Amino acid sequence: MRAAYFENYGSVEHLMIKDQPVPEPEEHEVLVRNHASSLNFGNVGHVKGEPFFIRAFSGLNSPKKHVPGGDVSGVIEKVGKQVTRFKPGDEVMGDAADSGFGAFAEYVTVNSKVIVPKPVNLSYEKTATLPLAACTALSGLKKGNIQPGQNVLIVGSTGSVGPFAVQIAKSFGAEVTAVCSGKKAGFVRSMGADHIIDYTTEDFRDNDNAYDLVLGIAGTHSMSDFKKKLTPTGTYVNIGGSMKQFSNAFTTGPLLYLFSRQKFSILMYMADQKTLQEVKKMAEEGTIKPTITKTFSLDQISDAYSYYESGHAAGKIVITM
Ligand SMILES: NC(=O)c1ccc[n+]([C@@H]2O[C@H](COP(=O)([O-])OP(=O)(O)OC[C@H]3O[C@@H](n4cnc5c(N)ncnc54)[C@H](OP(=O)(O)O)[C@@H]3O)[C@@H](O)[C@H]2O)c1
Repeated sequence: MRAAYFENYGSVEHLMIKDQPVPEPEEHEVLVRNHASSLNFGNVGHVKGEPFFIRAFSGLNSPKKHVPGGDVSGVIEKVGKQVTRFKPGDEVMGDAADSGFGAFAEYVTVNSKVIVPKPVNLSYEKTATLPLAACTALSGLKKGNIQPGQNVLIVGSTGSVGPFAVQIAKSFGAEVTAVCSGKKAGFVRSMGADHIIDYTTEDFRDNDNAYDLVLGIAGTHSMSDFKKKLTPTGTYVNIGGSMKQFSNAFTTGPLLYLFSRQKFSILMYMADQKTLQEVKKMAEEGTIKPTITKTFSLDQISDAYSYYESGHAAGKIVITM
């Protein structure tokens, strides 16, 4: 089969297309003929070996897995001995992150626990946008115990996770303020955001608004910056952001909130069937509408990564096999 391949950590230009053996599913796995996948922040980190902590999982000096890609959208080709929920021919979506990645390839094996039927109303391409990004957005909002009528601030509302977070927060009946660059404001508004803060001309710390829930998805802010934006019983959930923001969340975050009625948490989303099922349902009901910014063929994988790195994407970058 044809697969995206990288030998060592480094620039995304080193990604190539290489013939690889079709993987054999283990007892609890399914083999999927993958039709489409999508690019996420972690897929870029996997190839570059950056930020450095990622190597604790992917291999210290050299990568343990050479075919990147997590989002799976395709048709089951073969099932392992213990798999009873699926059969060859089933259309599915899933997440290969915990099964050794490998989704930027014509075939990929995935733990059957993180596979669900594909949304009936979506193409393979649109389905491929959902597994990591939409599930992360939903998990983050649920971790923050989102409630109807709440004021929610989403810092990092473009890219992969952000647009789903805006749509899902709106579906819970929240009033959403989205922080993004001005050039993508129209896009974020079309996702349903009620208010936009353009971080290139404004600073969300500068107004007097307070929020019941703040999601930190991107940016370089400190945990005390976010805490100041919460209502007296508000909740902050850290999803991502720069290395500085990420490490600040782990070091100072829990201490800052020790004696506070405000709540703090860090999301570390691990693929799970329940969340995938919920996202499938939301997609079928039209609660979330995937937005594809650009589609690349597997042959163009290196261009897809470069496009991601250019920062032009508003919505998902899809790879078709
Ligand atoms: N916790 C988890 O389990 C989990 C799971 C998945 C992803 N993540 C993390 O979530 C983060 C986002 O992932 P992603 O795939 O959505 O990334 P992405 O596609 O790269 O999107 C990030 C977006 O943030 C925007 N941005 C940059 N600086 C900003 C700022 N100062 N304020 C507001 N927005 C800013 C950028 O768009 P504009 O500047 O053009 O607006 C960019 O589109 C990453 O840090 C990733 O590691 C965490």
